[in-house]
Amino acid sequence: MDLKEKIDKSKLPKHIAIIMDGNGRWAQKKGNSRIFGHKNGVKAVKETVEAAGELGVKYLTLYAFSTENWKRPKQEVDALMSLLVATINSETDALIKNNVRLLTIGDIDDLPHDVNRNLQELKEKTAKNTGLSLILALNYSARWEILNAIKNILSQTHKQPVNFENIDNDFFEQYLYTSGIPDPDLLIRTSGEYRISNFLLWQIAYTELYFTDVLWPDFRKNDLYHAILDYQKRERRFGKISEQIKK
Ligand code: IPE
Ligand code: IPE
Ligand code: MG
Repeated sequence: MDLKEKIDKSKLPKHIAIIMDGNGRWAQKKGNSRIFGHKNGVKAVKETVEAAGELGVKYLTLYAFSTENWKRPKQEVDALMSLLVATINSETDALIKNNVRLLTIGDIDDLPHDVNRNLQELKEKTAKNTGLSLILALNYSARWEILNAIKNILSQTHKQPVNFENIDNDFFEQYLYTSGIPDPDLLIRTSGEYRISNFLLWQIAYTELYFTDVLWPDFRKNDLYHAILDYQKRERRFGKISEQIKK
C-alpha cells in the first residue's frame, strides 16, 4: 500500500502550514548559488499544493518571505521577488483549473509593485474557487501582525469604546490577517531547524509541530504524506486527559 492510501481521510488536518526552509543549503551542497536553490524550491511548492488539493486539505499556508528576509543580500531578495512573479504567471492557469483560491497574509503592499499587482490579480481571479485555499505568507511577521491588531483595536476605540469584557480570542482574531481561517492543525518545518522564525505565533497555540531534515527543494508528495501520517498518530488533548478524549 502506498503512503497516500494509509492516510485516514476522516482525520485529515484541515489546515497545514509550512516553513519552507533549506533552499540555500540545498544549492550550496551542489556547489551552486543560493538563488539556484530558490528556483528549485518551486517544484516542491507545486507538488505540495497539488498533494494537499488532491487529499482534500482545506487550507495550506506557505511561509515564503518574512519581514526579516529583507536583511538578505539585495541580489537574493531581488531574485526571490522575480521568482515570485514568474511563478505566479506560470501557475495561474493550473491554480484556476485546480479550483485553488489564493490568499495572502503579510504586508503585500510593501512588496515591489509588479509582485503586488500580480498577487492582487491572481487573488481576484481565484476568489470564487472552492477547493484548496492556498495562503502565501509574504512580507510576514507574526509579532507585527499582533501589534497591528492592537493598534487597530485602539484606533477603533476612539470612535466607539470597546467593552473590555468583549475582548476574547474570537474578538482579537478578527484583527489578524488570518481572520476567518481556522488555526493550523499541523505545522511542518523542513531543513532540520527547530524554530518558528516569527511565523503565526498566535495561531499555533495548539498546532502539532513536525520537523524534518529534508531540504525544501527535495520536498515531495511523499514527504507531505509522512508528515500527515505522523500527525494522525498523535492525540490532541487540548489540556484534557487521554480518557476524556477517548470517550
Ligand atoms: C527558505 O530557504 C526560503 C526563504 C527563506 C525565502 P533559505 O533561503 O532560508 O535556505 P537556507 O536556510 O539558507 O538553507
Ligand atoms: C523562515 O526561514 C522564513 C521563511 C521560510 C520564509 P529563514 O531561513 O529566514 O529563518 P531563520 O532566519 O533561519 O530563522
Ligand atoms: Mg533558512
